[in-house]
Amino acid sequence: MSSSSSRRTIFDIVEAKLSGRKIVAVTCYDAAMARLVDLSAVDMVLVGDSVGMVMHGHADTLKVSIDHMVMHTSWVNRVLRSPWLAADLPFMSAHMSLELTMNYASRLVSEGGAQAVKLEGGGEVICQAISALAAGGIPSIGHLGFTPQSVHQFGGLSGYRNNYADSQASTQLITEAVELQEAGASMLVLEMVPDHVAAEVTRQVSMPVIGIGSGAGVDGQILVLQDLLGMNHAFRPKFVKQYCDLESEVIQAVNQYACEVRSGEFPDESHSFIHG
Ligand code: KIV
Repeated sequence: MSSSSSRRTIFDIVEAKLSGRKIVAVTCYDAAMARLVDLSAVDMVLVGDSVGMVMHGHADTLKVSIDHMVMHTSWVNRVLRSPWLAADLPFMSAHMSLELTMNYASRLVSEGGAQAVKLEGGGEVICQAISALAAGGIPSIGHLGFTPQSVHQFGGLSGYRNNYADSQASTQLITEAVELQEAGASMLVLEMVPDHVAAEVTRQVSMPVIGIGSGAGVDGQILVLQDLLGMNHAFRPKFVKQYCDLESEVIQAVNQYACEVRSGEFPDESHSFIHG
């Protein structure tokens, strides 16, 4: 049922940056939510490897495999008609070998239906992967700042600190962003980078930059869908704004159902398949 031909493309995302229109992105991992996101006004959907935490209940993103990513991407792809669809390359794929990167990326595109792939980090290996992807005709998205796949290097999810107090770290981030662009990246995600540093990166590159917890000086924003919907009160990083309280609404609705089943109020005649 996928209709990727009517979808936004990387050119629409670049055009948004050029015209100063903010890019709106959310994560999504399944067809039920993708159907609702498709009816909303978003430019881009990312099947993030945050799927490991949000949908699979893991503590981090490291257990997510390429099979998981292809499966979740294909679920979203089946119903998504308008937004541009990107998917994450899982942990270490770019570091194993170029062949593996290309194999995984081509699976995300051909089996999953992704129009771009995202890979975390900077430096030579990632730049080589990005160049190979560009040569293979696959748009890629860089991801700098807090890169969840390097969680152990940061000393755990809560170990990440503002390392940008000294200007050297900011310069390094800008250098890495420029290198990713020169290697052929089409876009960049900045996660938990101080506002002023993220704004400076955005000025220094021509590719679109979207942020998560990185202030308003970037070209757009991305949030995990379940976070913005308030589906987990226990997980509420400072940068997440909850636009509704689905956790409370779901619990309330399911409790109401339980109550009515126990009291005999549900089902009534109108909810019987055939009454009489
Ligand atoms: O996996 C993910 O959800 C992400 C976003 C937070 C950018 O990479």
